[in-house]
Amino acid sequence: MDSARSETLGEGVCPTLHPLKIFDAARASDRFVYTCAPMVRYGKLAFRQTVHEYGVDLSWTPMILSKEFNRSQVARDSDFTTSRNPNPTIVQFGANDPQEFSRSATLAVPFANGVDLNCGCPQSWACASSLGAALMDKRELVRDMVAEAREALRRDGWDRDRESKRGRSVSVKIRIQKDLRKTVDFINTVIGNPDEPLVDFITIHPRTRSTPSTTPINTEALALLASEFGGKIPLFLSGDVFAVSSLPIPSQTAEDDAPRPSNTNIAGLMAARGLLCNPALFADHPTCPWSAVESFMRNVARAPIPLRLVQYHLGEMCGPGMGAEKGALLDKKERMVLHGLESMLDVVDFMDEMRSLKTGRAGGLSRF
Ligand SMILES: Cc1cc2nc3c(=O)[nH]c(=O)nc-3n(C[C@H](O)[C@H](O)[C@H](O)COP(=O)(O)O)c2cc1C
Repeated sequence: MDSARSETLGEGVCPTLHPLKIFDAARASDRFVYTCAPMVRYGKLAFRQTVHEYGVDLSWTPMILSKEFNRSQVARDSDFTTSRNPNPTIVQFGANDPQEFSRSATLAVPFANGVDLNCGCPQSWACASSLGAALMDKRELVRDMVAEAREALRRDGWDRDRESKRGRSVSVKIRIQKDLRKTVDFINTVIGNPDEPLVDFITIHPRTRSTPSTTPINTEALALLASEFGGKIPLFLSGDVFAVSSLPIPSQTAEDDAPRPSNTNIAGLMAARGLLCNPALFADHPTCPWSAVESFMRNVARAPIPLRLVQYHLGEMCGPGMGAEKGALLDKKERMVLHGLESMLDVVDFMDEMRSLKTGRAGGLSRF
């Protein structure tokens, strides 16, 4: 993200909205902030633009390794793409060193609204390099990383004031630990002085490093952390958000109250698998509508991604989904045909034909 890159992107690309302003607006109407989770391979620009059209307030990029990002222009260009009119975006990094993370932060923020540190990736290669979930056992190091990033941003003229056009957020995304007291210590350390917290918000994925994603999230642990920290700092829930009408968190007031920020101490919801299957999840569509497929294809035409990735996304969007309501746009056989296609033109034609067949309306996919 050097000056050449910035010239290519032009003046208009620099975001001017501090993410905490999004929280303020949502809190005023007691509604959750809706976010798209970091997803390695899948959270590319075309997908982020699509979910934004359907109610997502803030999107995370996939985790980007700081070491590569800092040293290679090729890595920067391939890992982080933005647009002339960017939607609010947080760039997530995998890092284990204060200087590496802070360098990445300063390179990214001219093009993003904030930076995030991944403290949740459970994969063995990441943990072996003291990245991701391994950082949950290194709370002082995480504190030093976020503190250093803050300082580096300040030196470069970015500030933490939510009213400033140069205001940028620094945040962490964590998993819980088996011994929840350790997670409480971790969060306290990373917040530092609550009057001037080192991080602006925290995303909690209430599963431990070894909990499979098929096991439901630990709502008890989440409620405990929310009551301890939700009043001090905005918290996001990441995990099992599959439909707005059936959220995995209970209200802390009456059982039949719909969960809201004021009765859960959670400020925002983050979805990964739910949005992959249904980018319109936060626009209260129980299943993926054809319009979201069209929107994705339009965005792919403007911000291309590899053919196999397009096919993967379409397969997920047209499948049975993660919510209780099942309404696949394509059946299994049709999805297999989709995956077997060999060119983007064939994919566009096939999806057009399927849409006409299923809805009786002429497809709009080829009219970019
Ligand atoms: C395909 C995929 C890629 C992911 N990549 C990342 C990542 O880069 N960084 C991260 O912090 N979490 C990553 N996650 C975890 C998700 O952000 C999220 O915390 C987890 O999937 C639980 O949310 P869900 O139930 O909405 O899927 C990934 C998850 C999936 C399914």
